[in-house]
Amino acid sequence: MIDAAALGVLLLLCACILHKVRHMHLLVHTMKDDSRQQNASLFRQLEALQGLYVSLGLQRALPLTRGWAASPDFLQELAAHALDEKPACVVECSSGTSTLVLARCLQINGYGKVYSLEHDPVYARRTRRQLEMHGLASWAEVIDAPLLAQACGGKQQVWYDCSGLAAVQRIDMVVIDGPPQLTCEQARYPAGPVLFPRLSPGAAVFLDDAARPGERAALARWAGEFPELEICALPCEKGAAILRQRPFA
Ligand SMILES: C[S@@+](CC[C@H](N)C(=O)[O-])C[C@H]1O[C@@H](n2cnc3c(N)ncnc32)[C@H](O)[C@@H]1O
Repeated sequence: MIDAAALGVLLLLCACILHKVRHMHLLVHTMKDDSRQQNASLFRQLEALQGLYVSLGLQRALPLTRGWAASPDFLQELAAHALDEKPACVVECSSGTSTLVLARCLQINGYGKVYSLEHDPVYARRTRRQLEMHGLASWAEVIDAPLLAQACGGKQQVWYDCSGLAAVQRIDMVVIDGPPQLTCEQARYPAGPVLFPRLSPGAAVFLDDAARPGERAALARWAGEFPELEICALPCEKGAAILRQRPFA
């Protein structure tokens, strides 16, 4: 005969075990969902990367994508736009894999130039070397653009020294993938007041990492300050957005 106390302990033990089993069951389901999502995302990136190599006819490997560099899905959006709309003047905030992709698009188009603002001399040299190795040096200029405090949006904010862009008056495509978010709050916001007034009619602006709070806040400010630009989300893994002039704006 089991006495009441022993029965109570047994029931408590069963309840604990059931609770743990239920917890593990939920955990396994969550892990299964996460892994399914990660596989789908990885497959999407591989498809985009393969698509890029085919449409750009690359003979050498691109530097790494994802992580600090742009992801293949974002690069594919940039390449599709650059090949379709053939911009003559592309300005990029930050350099790297994206610079090579854009320069190769302009080489295929037969005209145009990429001006890439880079605050870090090490990465500027790296990108220049990659451009040379790919035979793309004449299609892109990496501009040494240290981060400087400057008046912007009614206050001082650190952003690229863009004196190297003085001769660039009409910009057909802007790609914003820098400065790094740790630079300051809304690190990419100044691209709006500095570059958008120079956009040519029909120009397009691409923003990477648009899912992050700093970039979402910059987008919200741009929406208020540049109502003539329509903002659309792009289905990229890090979040991305394209801004274009509204028709008949
Ligand atoms: C988001 S990254 C720009 C990536 C570039 N658009 C590309 O596709 O490669 C922004 C800046 O981070 C710096 N950077 C790039 N790779 C880095 C790394 N592995 N570690 C630290 N900084 C890095 C560079 O100065 C670059 O301009």
